[in-house]
Amino acid sequence: MNDHKEFKKECEKEIEEQGADQELNALTNQWINKAAEHKYSYHFEWLGRPIIQHPQDIIGVQQLLWNVQPDLIIETGIARGGSMIFHASILELIANCGGNKDALVLGVDIDIREHNRKEIESHPMSKRIKMIQGSSISSETHQQVVALSKGFKKILVCLDSNHTHNHVLEELKLYAPLVSKGSYCVVFDTIVDNMPEDPDSQRPWGKSNNPKTAVFEFLKSLDKQNILAADGEVLALEIDKAIENQLLITVAPDGFLIRV
Ligand SMILES: C[S@@+](CC[C@H](N)C(=O)[O-])C[C@H]1O[C@@H](n2cnc3c(N)ncnc32)[C@H](O)[C@@H]1O
Repeated sequence: MNDHKEFKKECEKEIEEQGADQELNALTNQWINKAAEHKYSYHFEWLGRPIIQHPQDIIGVQQLLWNVQPDLIIETGIARGGSMIFHASILELIANCGGNKDALVLGVDIDIREHNRKEIESHPMSKRIKMIQGSSISSETHQQVVALSKGFKKILVCLDSNHTHNHVLEELKLYAPLVSKGSYCVVFDTIVDNMPEDPDSQRPWGKSNNPKTAVFEFLKSLDKQNILAADGEVLALEIDKAIENQLLITVAPDGFLIRV
């Protein structure tokens, strides 16, 4: 075994152990809940655009993109564009390292504000970005996404728009079938399920109505009935626990779904 393989094996063992460390997990949850009081995840930028993510998830997704090497990333929830610029920049680096030269990010948002659109379109990474304005669960948007996704061979999906159970469940039904074998559907903000209920929250999501409850319901439905993926094969998704065990601080616990 060469050094890199040996090192990776050692890391895998340590990652499993840290994932099973209940004291560390309790401390992590405590930290995440406390940091959320300060809107911690809103305070970062990627190449000049605000990105609403935890730095750990940014690193985790970078690893994922390198491993999967998608030629299309479908992303719901653009906001100020930071995550799209991030994804596009990693695709650019992958292309510079010999990967797909034409890889793209397709972002969907119900409300792409004019100032955000301008900043995104004038960004150097915009050459790898396409945007659709519309609700991610409308049939019109879905049809446009499906049409645009034709011909791509390795598709990865990120869901980060409206975080209610019904909305995410609908997104999973519409977009998970587009995920290619060996690639991922990443469902963000499943962390809402782990957080204490906030009685002052104006948001419609919370405990028992959030992306994680939608993930579980969707995975259950896949067990009960055969749903076909866009490539005609039966869709099978599994939660990749190794990623969250590695990151610990993540807004997507049980949200890294790999198509097997
Ligand atoms: C959490 S933000 C996205 C953050 C972004 N992914 C990032 O990391 O910087 C959620 C976004 O979802 C959008 N959104 C809300 N409901 C939506 C819907 N029905 N369809 C598509 N986008 C929606 C909002 O307009 C908002 O921009």
